[in-house]
Amino acid sequence: MRIAMIGSGYVGLVSGACFAQFGHDVVCVDKDEGKIARLRKGEMPIYEPGLDKLVTDNMRAGRLAFGAGLDEAVAGADAVFIAVGTPTRRGDGHADLSYVYAATAEIADAIRGYTVVVTKSTVPVGTGREVARIIREAQPAAEFDVCSNPEFLREGAAIEDFMKPDRVVIGVESERARDVMAGIYRPLNLIQTPMVFTNIETAEVTKYAGNAFLATKITFINEIADLCEKVGADVHDVARGIGLDGRIGRKFLHPGPGFGGSCFPKDTLALAYTAREVDAPQTIVEQVIEINSSRKKKMARKVIDFCGGSVSGLTIGVLGLTFKANTDDMRDAPSLDIVPALQAAGARIVAFDPEGMTEAGRMIPGIAFAKTAYEAATGADVLVVITEWHEFRGLDPRRLKEAMRKPRIVDLRNIFDPEEMRGLGFAYEGVGRPKPRN
Ligand code: UDX
Repeated sequence: MRIAMIGSGYVGLVSGACFAQFGHDVVCVDKDEGKIARLRKGEMPIYEPGLDKLVTDNMRAGRLAFGAGLDEAVAGADAVFIAVGTPTRRGDGHADLSYVYAATAEIADAIRGYTVVVTKSTVPVGTGREVARIIREAQPAAEFDVCSNPEFLREGAAIEDFMKPDRVVIGVESERARDVMAGIYRPLNLIQTPMVFTNIETAEVTKYAGNAFLATKITFINEIADLCEKVGADVHDVARGIGLDGRIGRKFLHPGPGFGGSCFPKDTLALAYTAREVDAPQTIVEQVIEINSSRKKKMARKVIDFCGGSVSGLTIGVLGLTFKANTDDMRDAPSLDIVPALQAAGARIVAFDPEGMTEAGRMIPGIAFAKTAYEAATGADVLVVITEWHEFRGLDPRRLKEAMRKPRIVDLRNIFDPEEMRGLGFAYEGVGRPKPRN
């Protein structure tokens, strides 16, 4: 099939490259001509494990191209995917759909022959209908159908999630569009991927409901972790104990400083907003938003209390700044709340992150950056783990202890073993882990 991908960001670039890997002919376009120029040279605008090889292999095979011109890409396509940003609108939490509708207007003028117009970006319920209206109004003679095909890609695992998805959700309303979409995803038949065909609104709600449920699950275990700290229970064993129930499941029960990223925060806000608009308020999701936001702020307090009530004049080593491991993405990262609050309390911050320091330097003024985790620990009065980068798990605690001014660790991702660290002479605090028996 011939595919035009509008938007070459986290979703569009990964989706376009994976569709090319399926064997389709893909043209990815983007307004940012600099990004297109870099992509043509095989330079990735985002950090996503395996993406550079996937892109360059498919460019070399002639199945993947990058262009700035939307018209040509759309004119030759069987399906056009809208994968532009849908950020949170300033002030009210609704999704900003200006980029989606701007792309739709351009697509409307460029359609030649029957085309399926697919919303891949996460868009509020009703957006698919609006896309169809815009196209019909702009080009009444256009032969097209609209489809909703939401992405379920985790950053840092996006290619894996695309190539081996738990399911593909497709909202279509004509046999012809269904056939085109079935043809696009046919390679997944080889691994018997479940295909959920439904209508457009249902596909749109499914995306929001999925992310909101995952955000709720994380927030649930985060609050259980707070209870565990108070009563001497271990949240890891609680998570294991409930996760073995097939109805609950093991995943997404890792307590931490709160969820961040480009999806959960904006999708929960957009769902809550849309639901209020149609008088079907999602009060649990509204609570999740509230709890998560205050949790990130509470984490700085946790560090200050651990240091005896003040961090003024202390040097704090920070391990990890990105919203999660295996990404360079700082959007809504807990560090954006935690680090400034510690600075405001008078601490000097020395941070290390394998991928996020460039972006973090733009978003958090006044922090020093270290070249390694050990350098971040050197001379530190306390070490705070904010992101669970795999390489942090392999650090030598003895070497950390030698480097630090005081052997104290606040481990917001529970990557270290409390007993081992305390046995080595560290004062250690995790999330939801039992305090030392004194
Ligand atoms: C998420 C969804 O997983 C994905 O399906 C959707 O398409 C986009 O949003 P992503 O935001 O990339 O993906 O990351 P994810 O791995 O889901 O983590 C989201 C946030 O939750 C991160 O801040 C992460 O640290 C946090 N998290 C995740 C936890 O705190 N505990 C967990 O157990 C899992």
